[in-house]
Amino acid sequence: MARNTGLFRKKRIAREEVIAVKKGGNTEFDESYNRLKDNLIYYSTDGGHKVIQIESSIAGEGKTTLACNLSVSLALNDKKVVLVDLDFRKARVHRAFKVSSQNGIGNYVSDKSVTVDDIIKHTDYGVDLITRGKSIYNSSLVLTSERIKALIAELKERYDFVILDCPPVLLISDYINIARLSDGILFVVAAGYTRKSAVKETYTLLSKTDSKIIGAIMTFAENTTSGYSYYGRYGKYGHYGHYGHYGHYGHYGYGYGYYHEKDDEENSSNADKKDNADGKKAK
Ligand SMILES: Nc1ncnc2c1ncn2[C@@H]1O[C@H](COP(=O)(O)OP(=O)(O)OP(=O)(O)O)[C@@H](O)[C@H]1O
Ligand SMILES: [Mg+2]
Repeated sequence: MARNTGLFRKKRIAREEVIAVKKGGNTEFDESYNRLKDNLIYYSTDGGHKVIQIESSIAGEGKTTLACNLSVSLALNDKKVVLVDLDFRKARVHRAFKVSSQNGIGNYVSDKSVTVDDIIKHTDYGVDLITRGKSIYNSSLVLTSERIKALIAELKERYDFVILDCPPVLLISDYINIARLSDGILFVVAAGYTRKSAVKETYTLLSKTDSKIIGAIMTFAENTTSGYSYYGRYGKYGHYGHYGHYGHYGHYGYGYGYYHEKDDEENSSNADKKDNADGKKAK
């Protein structure tokens, strides 16, 4: 299983390096994101896909990494982008961009005096962020609230793209409510990690939502030119059904924990350790 090889671990992306797309970058990685970004721009002008929901079957498939890098890639292409952290249990986006998580959706939804401008954070990458902020313990209530609908509607007006980072479909049912807010779903599948049956099940679940799967992205894929796994290729965007070669799956259980982390930013190093432990469990 690719994720367990020593080589892969050596190449595993350090937390500080979540955002790796660069202006003028011409690595295979940059090229992959360029392709993905170009496809997304094409699809958005064609079918009005502005609010993009990033989904995968299980934890650790690269959703947050993809959401962050895709957002930066779009911003480098002069698109106005806001990245919204809708993974309330495992809010991570703020760490990737090294901003505070405070004053986010939790604050906006629970306090009517908080405005959209109060929760938008500008970053050095040209991407705006909306973090989780105050802890959210009832995600369904928040995701079906009039406040969040109004928030997304307002963001749609202001931005070219609204990217939604989400929890995993097979562990948390938030995808159903998030799909009511989104225009399209990007389905992330980790090569050599996600079981074929899980991919199929997730595809079926996502297909029944109010949104639409507009693309599938394979992460952790073998780099055929250099011969090692590094940050995946993202070449499968734009069509679905290309999973025929998933012969060698890793081991995981749907039941493994997707716990609610504390919102205290000082706890981030503990959360990091727990992440690593989760990663090991998932393999
Ligand atoms: N394409 C990739 N190639 C190699 N490593 C990756 C890739 N994408 C993400 N990673 C690494 O895998 C780990 C999990 O990534 P990430 O947090 O983006 O996944 P996730 O799907 O958001 O997980 P969760 O569902 O737990 O939020 C991180 O350590 C990240 O640096
Ligand atoms: Mg994530």
